[in-house]
Amino acid sequence: MSTKGKVIKCKAAIAWEVGKPLCIEEVEVAPPKAHEVRIQIIATALCHTDAHVIHPKFTEAIFPVVLGHEAAGIVESVGPGVTSVKPGDKVIPLYTPQCRKCKFCLSPRTNFCTKLSRVKNPIADQELMEDKTSRFTCKGKPVFHFMGTSTFSQYTVVSDINLAKIDDDANLEKVCLLGCGFSTGYGAAINTAKRGSQVRKGKVQLFDVAVVLEVSWRLSWKVTPGSTCAVFGLGGVGLSAVIGCKVAGASRIIAVDINRDKFTKAKALGATDCLSPSDLHKPVQEVIVEMTDGRVDFALDCAGGSEAMKAALECTTVGWGSCTLIGVAIDDKGLTVSLMDLLTGRTINGTLFGGWKGIDSIPKLITDYKNKKFNLDALVTHTLPFDKINEAFDLMYQGKSIRTVLLF
Ligand code: APR
Ligand code: ZN
Repeated sequence: MSTKGKVIKCKAAIAWEVGKPLCIEEVEVAPPKAHEVRIQIIATALCHTDAHVIHPKFTEAIFPVVLGHEAAGIVESVGPGVTSVKPGDKVIPLYTPQCRKCKFCLSPRTNFCTKLSRVKNPIADQELMEDKTSRFTCKGKPVFHFMGTSTFSQYTVVSDINLAKIDDDANLEKVCLLGCGFSTGYGAAINTAKRGSQVRKGKVQLFDVAVVLEVSWRLSWKVTPGSTCAVFGLGGVGLSAVIGCKVAGASRIIAVDINRDKFTKAKALGATDCLSPSDLHKPVQEVIVEMTDGRVDFALDCAGGSEAMKAALECTTVGWGSCTLIGVAIDDKGLTVSLMDLLTGRTINGTLFGGWKGIDSIPKLITDYKNKKFNLDALVTHTLPFDKINEAFDLMYQGKSIRTVLLF
């Protein structure tokens, strides 16, 4: 019997209040409105960002809420005006939308979209649909969306600009990681770390006069072959950054984590050296400076927090070093940057979703995965039934998992 146009009752994990485990509940999921899509979620992974939102120190969250933003599913039905997908299509929800109309979407220089900033904090963004209402109710109460995706539910509704269509033969249990962790870390190395702009000369014919234009283009927006990199934090995001550095041809990849258990996998994925700050008698950045004979070309902070950010910046070389900030830590005191840090030629940049424009890029990443350009499977350390979602959170808190994939 078709469910199109009807309310679907299904299972979801609700965060009712701060600091408490999620509760598996029956929720009602309303049909999609104009430019919305209702999806059956097949597989959803956990990311540390989901945990931040229910942490007592995070003050921006709104409850009750259906969390989750790293998933893959199948379109159940579409609202009026949706042309990009149809029922039965395999899809990945995107927390970074791509409206294709705003000045950012029209520029190749960023994956930011104005639709992302409907509220002040991107981490707690898109908690209602565009018409400022929710499609979820539970026990008679409206329940908020999260990051435009809310994948901890058997069915969810997303805007059509928050959705990438993928190949019919994609393995949803693995490619769900493209929804956040993998794309974020990998893209940070492949797209975002900058080696500064390079100058290229171009000739333009104007009124029979040859004018030589010097055009400064950022030709190199990524980790470069032969470079030395440092990656801080070896969770799903950091290990994906290690993979990205390796794919980009880095010759040395120094992987840093306070948890030594992460080193085996980091080495298997391409790290050449592993360091644990707690084993060292001096700050890790000083050790990296000594090891590299003068600092790294690219530092990528995938841990978050002022300590890791400071270490990443201070191990980045003067002249052309690029320090990319990716990790988000709650209750963070921020990073103090001295003018000399930058006057000496370093660049600090940051990235959301690895710089990918999701609708355009996710299908290409699926092809690269199928062609074995990178190893996504190694990041899935646990697969559990959806009902065990709180066990999955515990595995993450204890540092025992890289990614746990939950199946409905
Ligand atoms: N130095 C080095 N490593 C650290 C530090 C530190 N000061 N603090 C934490 N770590 C390590 C942890 O031991 C862990 O292995 O960083 C890793 C973070 O991994 P996960 O908790 O699995 O988080 P992940 O999902 O990879 O996300 C990383 O990006 O999206 C953000 O909010 C997210 O801050 C998180 C980060
Ligand atoms: Zn995430």
